[in-house]
Formats: sequence, C-alpha cells, structure tokens
Amino acid sequence: MSEKQTIRQGYDELAETYASRRSVDERELRILTTFLNSLLEPHRILDAGCGQGTPVLSRLCKEATAIGLDFSQEQLRIAADTVPTARLVHGDMMTLPFRDDVFDAITAYDSLIHLPLSDYQTAIEEFSRVLCPGGRVLLSEAPEEFERTNSNWLDSNVEMRWSMAGAQATRTQLQNAGFTVVNEWDAPDRDDGDDPKPPFFAARLVA
Ligand SMILES: C[S@@+](CC[C@H](N)C(=O)[O-])C[C@H]1O[C@@H](n2cnc3c(N)ncnc32)[C@H](O)[C@@H]1O
Repeated sequence: MSEKQTIRQGYDELAETYASRRSVDERELRILTTFLNSLLEPHRILDAGCGQGTPVLSRLCKEATAIGLDFSQEQLRIAADTVPTARLVHGDMMTLPFRDDVFDAITAYDSLIHLPLSDYQTAIEEFSRVLCPGGRVLLSEAPEEFERTNSNWLDSNVEMRWSMAGAQATRTQLQNAGFTVVNEWDAPDRDDGDDPKPPFFAARLVA
C-alpha cells in the first residue's frame, strides 16, 4: 500500500475516534480569528484537509461560503452532519478539483503535514493556483523537519504517518509559489503532558 493510501485508509478507519478526540484548542482558534480578520470581505474559503469539520470548517462557515476538501470519505461523512452548511468535496490536495483563481483564502490545519516531503511544493502551488491574486493561506507546520509513524494512533490500532517540512522549508516553498509570508505564530513551549503545538504561517499571494 502506498503512503497516501495508508493515510487515507487510516483516516477512514479512525474517523469516529478522531472526531471524538479532536480538541478545540483556544490558541488555534485565536490564530484563525486573526487570519479571518485580515481578509477583506471573503466570498469563498477552502479548508484543505477539513477532516470532520470542527472547529475550523464550522468557523469558516460563519464568515463566507466555506468549502471543505478531504480525501477521506469517512471524514467527509461526519463533516456532512457536523457542518451541514459547508460544501464538501472529495479530493486530493495535490490536484485540487477547482478552477484557477476561485478562492479568497485557504486554511490547512494539520493536513499538509501528512504529505510526503517531496509533495509539499506541489500542494502549495495548487493553493496558489486556486487562490485569487492577493488571496491568503493559513497553514500549520512543525518547527523542524521530521517524519513519524505511529502504528496505534489514538489507541485505535490504526497506523498513521506524518512528514513535517519544518519552518524554514515552509517559508521557502511559500515564496517559491508566489506567496509573501505576512504572519507567523511560533510553537509555544510545551508544558509537561501537553501535545506539542504547531507553528502557523499566514501568507499572501502576491497580486
Ligand atoms: C489531522 S486531520 C486534520 C483535520 C482538520 N483540518 C482539523 O483541523 O481537525 C488531517 C486531515 O487531512 C486529510 N488529508 C491528508 N492528506 C490529504 C490529501 N493529500 N488530500 C486531502 N486530504 C488529505 C486527512 O484525511 C484528514 O482528514
């Protein structure tokens, strides 16, 4: 099975578990609010790798027409219940099934980090292609490059894999795709027992 199939099947198999364990992190929501406030009357926002739809896609629905894209049918099935006002699209971030220049903004919370490192640049260029000139992207990453596999993620007996490009590579890839990084939120120090918090990057497509 390819790496991509392992990840997609994993998200299908643990869809209910992930939905019950996805915490609503105040920092993530503050960052999302700051990002949304930076947009000028957005009409269409894409949530790339939307998962089961909360808390990100559900928040986007309050601001604009929100479109959630995911390659896991089971994640989308749950999102259809939890975020009934969103338009949901089954697809891959590597080949977005949208025309050029159609979105004002894109969010990618903890989703890019599942792509093989060699695929990152292509996905970010897809974001650039479907954004209007001046459009903005908000994505989470990791401070440093690392790859990880967990054969029993969330105690579900399901294998999951992550490939993080790291902050510097992310800045470079955004710039290569025509973006200017306009805001960064560093990963905060980890308190004992806490899950690590990702850094976030907001970038604007040069018009
Ligand atoms: C950790 S979950 C995050 C979900 C959601 N963004 C959130 O904040 O809870 C990662 C999601 O990305 C999706 N995903 C991973 N790789 C993808 C790809 N190449 N194309 C589309 N979706 C993908 C997975 O199916 C999963 O729903």
